[in-house]
Amino acid sequence: MKQEIDKSNIPAHIAIIMDGNGRWAKKNGSMRVKGHQHGVKSVREVTEAAGELGVKYLTMYAFSTENWSRPEYEVTALMHLLVSTIRKEARNLNKNNIKLMAIGNVESLPSVCQKELNEAIKLTKDNTGLNLVLALSYSGRWEIVNATKKIAEDVKAGKIDADKLDDNLFASYLETGVKGIPDPELMIRTSGEMRISNYLLWQIAYSELYITDTLWPDFNKEEFNKAILSYQQRERRFGKTSEQLSKVN
Ligand code: IPE
Ligand code: IPE
Ligand code: MG
Repeated sequence: MKQEIDKSNIPAHIAIIMDGNGRWAKKNGSMRVKGHQHGVKSVREVTEAAGELGVKYLTMYAFSTENWSRPEYEVTALMHLLVSTIRKEARNLNKNNIKLMAIGNVESLPSVCQKELNEAIKLTKDNTGLNLVLALSYSGRWEIVNATKKIAEDVKAGKIDADKLDDNLFASYLETGVKGIPDPELMIRTSGEMRISNYLLWQIAYSELYITDTLWPDFNKEEFNKAILSYQQRERRFGKTSEQLSKVN
């Protein structure tokens, strides 16, 4: 399958909603937490596949603002898993020239998570390969409201002119804009849910969507390649007609 992928048309940014860990666990007769643990294996595999294909940014929805309302034991287990995974993987990421980043309300995470995360971010900050972006305590609306607050402050302080506000200036205030992360060309969601769940609301305005029934712990390199192949078969028209696109000039 890998041979069929057009290497000259790899999305620079792929965003993933990793969903279905709980259902995977239920199907296998185990606790939800087991599903999350198995999900880490998929993260590792997809990160490796993305790096090999030359994807520049991989943004993984790991924990949403809404996920704070899950049962306390599940939230605690997820935070533990985050800490232990980063602790285990940081050196490996660094060895593979991967730069770890985070978007979201990171300050709302338990301090041990913040510490582990910040150390791994610092360790990998000069790497030039894949940028692995974790969306943590993230929600698209939170990000947009936050950006708007900062814009309002800058207008008030006379740093920017409200009349000059356009798409680009607005986007530069988002978490992604501040960190230099471009909009994703491809957005993948596992487990078959046909919704966005408050993910990258601004940034996915023109992303290609790929939704698979595969549950996240079963998602692997082959599934990832399938998503890229599907992307490569799309005609991205950006409002134009198909005829306009096929014209040489
Ligand atoms: C995704 O799997 C992981 C997180 C949201 C943290 P879920 O835990 O949502 O799995 P399902 O949707 O219940 O199957
Ligand atoms: C989205 O999955 C959030 C993450 C993958 C982290 P959810 O399982 O929380 O989404 P909903 O609640 O089913 O929309
Ligand atoms: Mg879910």
